[in-house]
Amino acid sequence: MMQNEGNRNEMGDTTSELKMHFEGAWHKMMEELYKGPESLLQAVHYSCAGPGKRVRPLLLLLAGRSLGARMESCMSAAIALEMIHCYSLVHDDLPSMDDDDFRRGRLTTHKVYSEATAILAGDALLTDSFLVIARDTFLGDSLKVALMAELAKAAGSQGMALGQGLDMDTTRPLALKTSEDLDRMHSLKTGALLGASLAMAAICAGRPDLSQKMRTAGSTIGLAFQIMDDLLDESQGTGKSAGKDKAQDKLTYLSFYSRDQAIHLANHWTNEGKAILKDLGMVSELMGYLDLLLYREF
Ligand code: IPE
Ligand code: IPE
Ligand code: MG
Ligand code: MG
Ligand code: MG
Repeated sequence: MMQNEGNRNEMGDTTSELKMHFEGAWHKMMEELYKGPESLLQAVHYSCAGPGKRVRPLLLLLAGRSLGARMESCMSAAIALEMIHCYSLVHDDLPSMDDDDFRRGRLTTHKVYSEATAILAGDALLTDSFLVIARDTFLGDSLKVALMAELAKAAGSQGMALGQGLDMDTTRPLALKTSEDLDRMHSLKTGALLGASLAMAAICAGRPDLSQKMRTAGSTIGLAFQIMDDLLDESQGTGKSAGKDKAQDKLTYLSFYSRDQAIHLANHWTNEGKAILKDLGMVSELMGYLDLLLYREF
């Protein structure tokens, strides 16, 4: 049992309502983009249909709302973020990466379709995410370009892809050996996309002046999110295979710290992120959602 279990809370009304709106818009977009019997399109649907927590879209929608943005102005960005995230999961699970058989309580995409189809499903989601923003009808062109640049920077060689590359290197002797290396890897592979979630909220709200601070807050919270993911790796009930990191000798927070120390650090980074948001006057339901993320069980 985790030390912080007593602090578990429920999703607030606004968060549940935003999640419901997101699921509707997400489903509609998936139907629009991926029509047809081809196995690639079916594989994309399969990759996106599992019960994900929708963390990145919810962060964007909650932060956007508290900055005064209309939900309609945030939806394409929220969908694009989740598409990138789903692609990253499909590729992360591939035999040449983490070689995982289960995700979101179901077989991974390459287990149901071929490995090649899973790679291409990821490629399609990644590329189409930019199309979703380009076609948005609520935002002006300059905001769309800013959103695409933010997303590209967070997902590519300066963000998530680089972090995943470092993760793959952890099996190479001496590639990553300090806790600072580990923080950098976690901040890139997971923090970058959470940073983009909050920075994109600022852009959607027409407040690009806030995007740098929002990005920093999001990526700090993302570090905490990945620490908790490392701790949850050994638990049952996550919808993924339990104990996979240890079996693969992955460099995780448990390579350097005890569970209690890791929980303490996750709390610390979440509080750092929240302090930046509080400074920006963001005292909305977002704060409660950040606690929920920290105390999550899957
Ligand atoms: C899992 O992300 C991979 C990480 C970046 C830690 P989530 O925990 O957000 O996965 P889903 O979307 O809820 O399945
Ligand atoms: C993956 O980290 C982060 C991504 C960018 C997908 P993990 O490999 O720890 O994620 P899980 O545990 O498989 O969801
Ligand atoms: Mg991985
Ligand atoms: Mg993995
Ligand atoms: Mg993990």
